[in-house]
Amino acid sequence: MKRKLKLKSWVKWLLLILLIIITITVVSINNKNNGNKNTKETFKVDKIKNKNNDTLKAKCKKISYCNLKYLDRYKLYKNSNKDLSDEDIITRVNLGLDYSFYTHTKETPYLNKEYILVNKYLHLNEDYVPESLEDIDLEFARSGMKMVKTAKEKFLEMVKAAKNDGYTIIAMSSYRSYNYQVNLYNRYVSSDGVEAADTYSGRPGYSEHQTGLAVDVYDGKLDYTNFEKSDSYNWMQENAYKYGFILRFPKDKDNITGYQYESWHYRYVGKKIAKYIHDKNITFEEYYVRFIEPKFQK
Ligand code: DAL
Ligand code: ZN
Repeated sequence: MKRKLKLKSWVKWLLLILLIIITITVVSINNKNNGNKNTKETFKVDKIKNKNNDTLKAKCKKISYCNLKYLDRYKLYKNSNKDLSDEDIITRVNLGLDYSFYTHTKETPYLNKEYILVNKYLHLNEDYVPESLEDIDLEFARSGMKMVKTAKEKFLEMVKAAKNDGYTIIAMSSYRSYNYQVNLYNRYVSSDGVEAADTYSGRPGYSEHQTGLAVDVYDGKLDYTNFEKSDSYNWMQENAYKYGFILRFPKDKDNITGYQYESWHYRYVGKKIAKYIHDKNITFEEYYVRFIEPKFQK
């Protein structure tokens, strides 16, 4: 009887051990299967990622101003700007718009060229003074106004044509030195604060007035900030591009130019560029990325 009992408990132990072994085996097989599934899934995700990257690369190679170095930035920017076309994503990232204004700045190239770009990412040196500055005739400017020779000549041609048509256009601010801009900007900051000043004034080195290619105008009667309300403004809208001038900070483009609309601020870029920008209704920034950079960086 005792023996039988002993035997029974021996069998029980054996069964228990067997059960434990079976459980461990089943659990480990399951884990292994799950592991395989995860690896397979990771592999699938990697495959999709690689395919997406390849598609992006292929797309990039087809767009002359796309830069393969910026693929990750394009992807990131697209994620938060899904409504923009690929062309716009590339344009904006190339401009640096995926970074905040006045961060990632560098010295602007193409000094003394009419296609030079100065904005919140591209600046001029403290001691940069453009070549061939000339005074603008007093009939068409406040005293002491200077511009680069070619720009001045085209400005005069333009305002004389306007005069012939019966419209007055007078330069009230044109070339401004770095130091002049220091005082101007500081004045704006003390009255309005940095944030507001940055919406309408370039920081020293970042104002294209230092290029000698920009000019603020008024109609001789209204304050320049009301230029938009004058007939002279309408004349400029229709004709400025014919003389190589563009409205540099158009309405609703502050997310690209960095500045609020300025109906009075014109920039000489040459006839060909001005016509294209006028016809396509784009900013100089967009033109620069699409046509100037690819042309001169090759
Ligand atoms: N008002 C323009 C943005 C400038 O200061 O250059
Ligand atoms: Zn201006």
